[in-house]
Order: sequence, then structure tokens, then C-alpha cells
Amino acid sequence: GSAGELSGLLSGITVTVTAGGTREPLDPVRFLGNRSSGKQGTALAEAALAAGARVRLIAAHMEVPAPGGIELVRVETALELREAVHKAAADSDVVVMAAAVADFRPDKVVETKIKKSDDTADPVITLVRNPDILQEIVQARGTGATPALIVGFAAETGDATTDVLEYGRRKLARKGCDLLVLNQVGKSLVFGQDQTEVRILSPAEPAGSAGESAAGSKTEVSARIIARIAAELAARRP
Ligand code: CTP
Ligand code: CA
Repeated sequence: GSAGELSGLLSGITVTVTAGGTREPLDPVRFLGNRSSGKQGTALAEAALAAGARVRLIAAHMEVPAPGGIELVRVETALELREAVHKAAADSDVVVMAAAVADFRPDKVVETKIKKSDDTADPVITLVRNPDILQEIVQARGTGATPALIVGFAAETGDATTDVLEYGRRKLARKGCDLLVLNQVGKSLVFGQDQTEVRILSPAEPAGSAGESAAGSKTEVSARIIARIAAELAARRP
């Protein structure tokens, strides 16, 4: 699980990682955001770098600094992230979607600051759906240059009828990506924390399979994910 073990695993490979949380503006001073810290995506970019890859990090809002030695693209909204990902996908061998993308955005951005006023009704925010970027890049496959490997992330909580693994398997099937890194969101939220526990699910496995599990710091877990990505690429090589 250390960076040294990754040496050379991805030399000659271009990896695009998305990280952080998108922000959807309401007016010039306000936005809808989420609690993503960007730690997982940043750790993945660092691990890919340690493996010798050329790394592009598409960063939405992050609470941690971006690593050096990478190509950094800053974005704010889901629509900006989408554009950057489509552009990057054309010359990437691997795309890892670790960003927390807002599922919805306000239907309009008010051009001047929303003011409180005593004589008008309280404002109502109407949300519209953002495109599913991961699904789009999977569907774009076979049309021109597309990544050999597309990796999704999911944070799930189980409920009375369905456990985390079952939700993960369903999401993997729905998204159609090559690997899905599944986080169990438990009592201690994954957001902002350094320790994490994941399962790496592949569509090649039988329905009930729990996949490869990895636990530890986000750095250690990222090393495992990058090693798995290298193995998947090697298995696809003619
Ligand atoms: N994702 C994306 N575009 C979106 C939403 C999510 O590309 N508009 C990506 C995320 O980066 C992640 C994966 O899809 O890699 C799963 O995100 P998640 O929020 O778990 O899935 P959703 O399909 O949005 O389902 P849910 O209703 O559970 O949020
Ligand atoms: Ca979502």
C-alpha cells in the first residue's frame, strides 16, 4: 500500500481524476454545495503520479491543496465539470470520477444579489437535474477516442430492504462503468475524514460478490485503487 510499490505501474498512461464538490450558483454571492473535501480525489491523483502516470486533476471546490506535478483544471459547477471531463476524456486512458457532482442545480442564476424584502413573498428555489457525467462518458464509448477504463465512486447507506453492497451493484450496472469504488457511509461520515474503507466492484464478478476490499488512510486506499486500475489495464491489453 505504499507509494514506492506503485513505481512504474502506470508509466505512459494518462489518468484524469475529478475531485471535490461542485457548487451551483443561486446569485452572485450564494451557491448550493456539498461536503466533499477533495481528499480522496487528491490522494488518487498523487497515487497515479507515484505510479508514473501523466495526471490531470479536474478540481471542483476542495478543502485541501491540489498536488504539484499535475495538470490542474479548476471548475465550479457540474456543467463546467462536464465540459472539462468530455474534453479530457478524449486523450485519457483512464477517467476516475471521484468528484461529488450536484445532482440538481437552481433552474436560473439570479444576476443580482437576491435581497430580502418585506413586501414580496419569500423566494422559492426550483431545481433542475444535472447531466450524469459518468453515464455520458460511458455512453460515448466507441465514438472516437475514449478512455480504456472508466471508474466511478459511490457513497451509500444501507436501509431496511437493501444493503450497501446491493445498492453498489445496482449503481455499477446502471452506470455501466468498469469499476465502482463503493464507500459505506456509516455513523462516522466519510466526508473530510482521512480513514476510509471501500469495496472495488467490477461487472465481471458474480452478483453477490463483495469485490476487493481496501481499508486505511485515503492515501493507502488510493494506492490500492491505482494498483487495481493498472491490473485492469494490463488485462485489457491485447
Ligand atoms: N456522477 C456524475 N454526474 C452526476 C452525478 C454523479 O458523473 N451528475 C458520478 C460521481 O462522480 C460518481 C458516480 O457518478 O462517480 C456516482 O455518484 P452518485 O451520486 O453515487 O450516483 P447518482 O447516480 O447520482 O445516484 P444517487 O441518487 O445515489 O446520488
Ligand atoms: Ca448523486
